[in-house]
Amino acid sequence: MDSIRITGGKRLEGKIPISGAKNSALTLLPCALLTEGKLTLGNLPRLADVDNFSHLLNGLGVSTKVAGVKKGEFGRKMTLSAREIASTVAPYDMVRKMRASILVLGPMLARAGESTVSLPGGCAIGDRPIDLHLKVLEALGAEIELAAGYVKASAPKGRLSGGDYSFPVVSVGATENGLMAAVLASGRSELFNAAREPEIVDLCNLLVAMGGKIDGIGSSHLVIDGVEGLDGCSYDVMPDRIEAGSYACAAGITGGSIELVGARPSDMLAITNALAAAGLVIEFTENGMRVTADKPLRPLAVSTAPYPGFPTDMQAQFMAMLSVAEGQSFLEETIFENRYMHVPELRRMGADIEVHGRSAIVKGGAKLTGAQVMATDLRASMSLVLAGLAAKGETEVLRVYHLDRGYERLEEKLQGVGATIERVSLG
Ligand code: EPZ
Repeated sequence: MDSIRITGGKRLEGKIPISGAKNSALTLLPCALLTEGKLTLGNLPRLADVDNFSHLLNGLGVSTKVAGVKKGEFGRKMTLSAREIASTVAPYDMVRKMRASILVLGPMLARAGESTVSLPGGCAIGDRPIDLHLKVLEALGAEIELAAGYVKASAPKGRLSGGDYSFPVVSVGATENGLMAAVLASGRSELFNAAREPEIVDLCNLLVAMGGKIDGIGSSHLVIDGVEGLDGCSYDVMPDRIEAGSYACAAGITGGSIELVGARPSDMLAITNALAAAGLVIEFTENGMRVTADKPLRPLAVSTAPYPGFPTDMQAQFMAMLSVAEGQSFLEETIFENRYMHVPELRRMGADIEVHGRSAIVKGGAKLTGAQVMATDLRASMSLVLAGLAAKGETEVLRVYHLDRGYERLEEKLQGVGATIERVSLG
C-alpha cells in the first residue's frame, strides 16, 4: 500500500503533459469485442483501470499487445483482437474491482448475442444503479434476466433488432452501452436525451471509423443504423479533460502557472469558464493552454451538470482550490448523492466547509496545514493532493491506489513543475 508525501507551499510553474482520457479509454477498449479485426488504440493512459479492463477483456478471449514505451514518454499503444469470443461472462471478482466493467455488456451482446456481467456494487460516491443500461438494451430488443448477482442479456434471434429509447436521466455509461449495442443491430436505433460528454463523441468517432453509421454525434439525439459487421482500425484516445482541469486547479491553489500540454480547450469550456471566474488567467497555446493564478482567487457559485455543464468529476478539485479563495463559495453536486467524502479530510487540513445535503458552502481564506489524510475515491484523492500542495508543512495521502486509477504518474508530473512530492511504499 503506497502513500504520497507532499511538502506544500511552492508556486508550481512549468509544463505538464496531459495523458489520454481514462473515461474515454474505458469505453473504447470494449469496442474490440465488436469486430474480428485488430483494434489499435493509441494515447492510452497508463492507469490501473486500463490494465484491469484489458485483463477483463483477456478473460473474454480478447488478445491484447502493448507496444513498448520509451522512458519519459506518456501513453501507450495497445492492439486488441477478438477473433474468437472465449467467454461471454464478466465475473464478479473483476467487476467488483472496476464498475466500468459493465461496459462490456452492450458490445458483447451485440457481437455474441448474449452477455452475462456481474452486477457492479455501489461505490463511495453513490449507489450507481445500472437500470438505464438494462432499459436501453431492452429497447434495442434484448431480453434481460437478473439472477445470483449477475445480469444476463440475450438477443432472442441472436441479433438485436434496434429500437428507440429516451433516457429519463442523462447517463454516460448507459449511452455508451446503448451505442455499442446498436451499431450491430439489424435496424435503426434512436437515443434521446443521450449523454453528450466528449468521451461519448470519442466513442462515436471510433465506431464510425470501424464502419458504424451514427448521426447526431455530439448532440443528445443519436441515430444509429445497424451494420452487418465492423472492421478493426487505429485510433488515438482523446486527451483527458478532467486530468487537465485537475492540474489547472494545482496552478490555482498554489498561485502558479502551468501549461497543460495536449489539453483540448474545446472539451473544457465549463471548466475554463469557472477557472476564469475564479480569477485565473487562461491562455490558449498551440499545444493546449496555460493557466496562471497571479492574484488571489475569487469565490464561485457552481452546480455540477451533465455536459456541457460543469463536470461532477471536477467538483472535489474546485472545492479544494476554493477553500483558499477570498470569500465564500457555494457548490452544488447534482449528479451523485454522496460525492462529498473529501470534505472531512479537507477540514482536517484547515478548510472551512459546511455541507447541507447536496450543497456545500466553502468559507474560503483557509490557511491550510499539512496532515495525514485518507483518500476515499478517485477525485476526492486529487482534492487532498491539491490541498497538500498549498498546505504549510507535510501532507501524507494514504490509499493512493484511488489516485492510480485516474492519474498517470501524478508525482512525476507534479515534480516536473516544482512540487515537493514523492511516493512512499508502505509495503
Ligand atoms: C461516468 O460514470 C464516469 N465514469 C464518471 O467518472 C462520471 O462522474 C459520470 O460518468 C458522470 O459524468 C466513466 O466514464 C468510467 P452516469 P457513469 O451513468 O457512467 C444515475 C471519475 O471520477 N444512473 O452518467 O457511471 C447515476 O446514479 C468517474 O472518473 C442511474 O440512475 O455515470 C448518476 O446519478 C466517477 N441509472 C447519474 O445517473 C443508471 O443506469 C449519472 O451517472 C446509470 C446512471
